[in-house]
Amino acid sequence: MAKIIAVTGKGGTGKTATTTLLIRHLTRTNKVVLAVDADPDTNLPETLGCEVNRTVGDIKQFMQDERDNMPLDSNKESILKSKLYEILEEMPGYDLVVMGRPEGSGCYCYVNNLLRGIMDKLVNNYDVLIIDTEAGLEHFSRKIFRNVDDLVVVTDGSRRGMRTAERIKDLVGELETDVSNIYVIANKVTDTNREVIAETAGELGLELIGMVPVDEMIAERDLAGEPLFDLPDDSVAVQEIEKIAGKLGL
Ligand SMILES: Nc1ncnc2c1ncn2[C@@H]1O[C@H](COP(=O)(O)OP(=O)(O)OP(=O)(O)O)[C@@H](O)[C@H]1O
Ligand SMILES: [Mg+2]
Repeated sequence: MAKIIAVTGKGGTGKTATTTLLIRHLTRTNKVVLAVDADPDTNLPETLGCEVNRTVGDIKQFMQDERDNMPLDSNKESILKSKLYEILEEMPGYDLVVMGRPEGSGCYCYVNNLLRGIMDKLVNNYDVLIIDTEAGLEHFSRKIFRNVDDLVVVTDGSRRGMRTAERIKDLVGELETDVSNIYVIANKVTDTNREVIAETAGELGLELIGMVPVDEMIAERDLAGEPLFDLPDDSVAVQEIEKIAGKLGL
């Protein structure tokens, strides 16, 4: 069984950067990794430095459009499965699948159910699945993963950010997805807010597993539109993520 990690949190806190650096770490282990970009804005390929042209959204649309034209005896599950394998991007050290835009109008229950079944099996091919999600938990239940081992909530150092992490923790009980552990990562931490963050996390009962400093190298790459995947080992964010990965058993 793959260990499933989902990275969530408020908008702009650093979910995609954190996911990217965790994937960077994983490619240096001998684990078989599937990275999933579940944010319809699709930022993960860019920070990883790879190009993805087709998404799960596209193949869902294809199945929806073609469903009535397919011969009655065709095996829709195997058609969808082969389409999914076509869009699975094989990168050195990991595979990547991009969910893309959510569906248009009409009922996609049929395709979604097929997809869920296929994903359940696909997951068995990997040691670790790491999912970059869109901000908030509202869309989480509709997603195709029924269980998550570790929900990693990325927050910025603000009290409001920490409150959001607390709210996410409270919301988890209402989800259709089973979540085993909830961890919090404070990102873009400075010397000024470091202590307060640790205190606030304690007060709110959040399990803080790391504090990633503001990293000039990330800011520079962001400005230049360059990926974060190949940040050097001396990046302060990389160094903290390495420690966090250890705590997550990665
Ligand atoms: N540790 C860091 N140091 C400096 N800049 C950072 C750090 N982490 C993230 N950033 C920057 O903060 C911005 C938001 O990061 P990112 O895109 O990872 O957040 P996100 O939570 O995925 O956002 P969204 O909600 O839009 O998906 C980006 O410009 C990114 O380069
Ligand atoms: Mg993002």
